[in-house]
Amino acid sequence: MNRRHFLKAAAATGSGLLILPSGSLFGQNAPSKKLNVALIGVWGRGLAHYEGLSKENVVALCDVNEERFPEALKKFPGAKTYVDWRKCLEQKDLEAVVICTTDHSHAHVAMWAMNRGLHVYCEKPIGMTVEECRVLRAAYLAKKNKIATQAGTQRHANPNFARVRELIKDGAVGELQGVFVWGNRQLRRPGYLPAEGAPPATFHYDQWIGPSPMHPYNPGYFSGGPGANCLQWNMYWDFGTGQVGDMGNHTMDLAWNAIDAGLPTSVEAKGDPFNPDVTPVELTAHFNHPANDWRPAIRVSWYQGGALPTPPKPWIDLNKIGHGAMFKGAKGVLVADFNTRMLIPAADTSDLTYYKTRKPDEVTPPMGNFQEEWFKACKGNLKTSCNFDYNGLMTEQMALGLVAYRAGKKLEYDGKAGRVTNSPEANAYLKREYRAGWPLNG
Ligand SMILES: NC(=O)c1ccc[n+]([C@@H]2O[C@H](COP(=O)([O-])OP(=O)(O)OC[C@H]3O[C@@H](n4cnc5c(N)ncnc54)[C@H](O)[C@@H]3O)[C@@H](O)[C@H]2O)c1
Repeated sequence: MNRRHFLKAAAATGSGLLILPSGSLFGQNAPSKKLNVALIGVWGRGLAHYEGLSKENVVALCDVNEERFPEALKKFPGAKTYVDWRKCLEQKDLEAVVICTTDHSHAHVAMWAMNRGLHVYCEKPIGMTVEECRVLRAAYLAKKNKIATQAGTQRHANPNFARVRELIKDGAVGELQGVFVWGNRQLRRPGYLPAEGAPPATFHYDQWIGPSPMHPYNPGYFSGGPGANCLQWNMYWDFGTGQVGDMGNHTMDLAWNAIDAGLPTSVEAKGDPFNPDVTPVELTAHFNHPANDWRPAIRVSWYQGGALPTPPKPWIDLNKIGHGAMFKGAKGVLVADFNTRMLIPAADTSDLTYYKTRKPDEVTPPMGNFQEEWFKACKGNLKTSCNFDYNGLMTEQMALGLVAYRAGKKLEYDGKAGRVTNSPEANAYLKREYRAGWPLNG
């Protein structure tokens, strides 16, 4: 279609918007249009978004640490700066936000942004509690025809994720029987840091604390390198969920992508003795999931901080796979890390004749750049791989592991109602209290 014919055809539709047979889109949301984005949390993990964001229009930068602005402004000179994300979200020309702040502010910023009709990319974990995950997921589902969301589990774009899913769904291990996911990061802390010094005038500590209860300032919370500073605060109950929300969110994603699960019907967990300040380093949580249309009911287990599942063979040292997933089936076992997979048929009878490999044209196409998928979704079909529905369910499951750990007994869970049915006291652990002036749904 040449330009003259195109314009004629466009006029005939009377809409100024035309979808060509190739699928190209012209009009307000054309892919060529740049998105007006706010980056909230501009250093650390925020830096990993600079390259992708530089192809868009970064109109706002927000950070509680004013020292971070000069560097960010070099990259995004046109942006306005804020220390309070609530003020930032009021900027009128915003269309989308990228959230790279602490875990204890994710759900708030994401919720307030969705309430303002903004597309949201939020670093993992999107929420710390069952309630936060459910509120975010419900808000996203109510608006999914208008906004695109993506949880920051960028390893999802590794081709291995799709290969693992294909092997499991196509029956390479036979009928699926159980799923085991683990991570060996161990960050031990005795308790919150004691008061030490005062925050510099350029660091807005009260704003950093945000919705969480106040704790005295200590520079130790801010002593980590870029993108790893989260390891200075994410193990404290009021600032994070430890490895459950840290590597757990990435690694469970490897399994979640392959099992088409919803919410578990029961959960049990055990780990380190309870510390009111610090989340457990060692933790094992088991989640029972009902059958779906292609597999039976399965138990999904999460192991962290030294706990590990039993290896399929004594000569396989799962501890050497820092973060991995294992799928046990009637005919064999699949062991995977983020980039590799290994199929172990169960016995001589598991000759793989029951399993048909895919033809080249049946293989899932590469998803491409993870952050880019979200940018494209914001401007087009709103479809992302790790939206707040998919990731919200997974993060809610993981948060339930901590609830069962605190309750100290097996919990029956009504996923529809979001309630524990056999332990009224455990329902108190589904949510956390916020400081006055910091509502989740603002
Ligand atoms: N996807 C990944 O692979 C990956 C890797 C590292 C970190 N992360 C996630 O990214 C997030 C940030 O981690 P980090 O190590 O960069 O932490 P960080 O402590 O370095 O914080 C990042 C930036 O956000 C700013 N900030 C913190 N709270 C803020 C608030 N309320 N408002 C505005 N700015 C705020 C900080 O001053 C800093 O500049 C965490 O949630 C972490 O889980 C994800």
